[in-house]
Amino acid sequence: MEALYRSVFVGLLIMALPAFASPGEALFQSQCVRCHSVTLENPDVPILFGQERGYIEEALLKFQTGARIDHIRGEMGGISQNLSDENRKELSRYLVAENVCSVNQEIDVKKEGFIESFRAGAELEKKYNCQHCHGSFHHAAPRLYGQKRDFLIRTLWAFKNQTRVDPLMNRFAGQLSAEEIENLATYLNGMILMRQCP
Ligand code: HEC
Ligand code: HEC
Repeated sequence: MEALYRSVFVGLLIMALPAFASPGEALFQSQCVRCHSVTLENPDVPILFGQERGYIEEALLKFQTGARIDHIRGEMGGISQNLSDENRKELSRYLVAENVCSVNQEIDVKKEGFIESFRAGAELEKKYNCQHCHGSFHHAAPRLYGQKRDFLIRTLWAFKNQTRVDPLMNRFAGQLSAEEIENLATYLNGMILMRQCP
């Protein structure tokens, strides 16, 4: 009888400990959240919540093999070394289901020039047909709406300067002026406002 009480007690204790709902969440919370957090503390670390599963897995593989190098001293290269195929799947399964609305973006639509920049960005997106890939499953392209503005600007410059290599994106970004990059970033980031975030 005493043994039974003891095992019930231990069972209740285990239930009271913080447990992660999935292996992907556990990995994310232990290894990733310090940079990929839901605050704007790190303005040029991309938001991963709601991102395409295939894209996340491919990006992690590219960092692992050195085909992509991040701008903060190759930190992602080091971090991705220990991830297995299964880990990448677990992470992408967790991340795709998380809500981008939980990232506090604080977009100031009243800021001078916001509306003009947003509109110009929308025109450019149409002109270059960015959503042909980014709004579909074409070429495993990442989701861009709601991504952090500073990350988008840095990334478009990286494609333009070819410090980030992707033949398609190097060609597109190569044609963009500094002003066009700013406008596209304002628009793509601002599109989070079209989502029904609480
Ligand atoms: C030390 C900070 C740091 C940590 C910890 C970190 N990351 Fe990153 N991560 C970055 C930065 C910075 C970038 C942007 C790289 C660039 O393009 O310059 C990035 C990019 C990415 C990307 C590409 C996203 C995109 O939109 O292109 C993925 C996927 C990613 N990280 C997943 C992870 C996962 C999964 C973990 C945990 C296992 C993790 N990261 C841990 C800093 C970090
Ligand atoms: C023909 C398909 C295609 C078109 C059109 C296209 N892209 Fe891309 N884009 C991609 C692919 C594929 C990647 C992922 C590259 C990689 O793996 O590093 C990408 C990556 C990006 C990224 C990096 C996002 C991240 O999270 O790291 C940005 C920003 C971006 N594109 C912006 C744009 C903009 C702005 C346009 C329009 C001017 C555009 N793209 C048009 C295919 C496309």
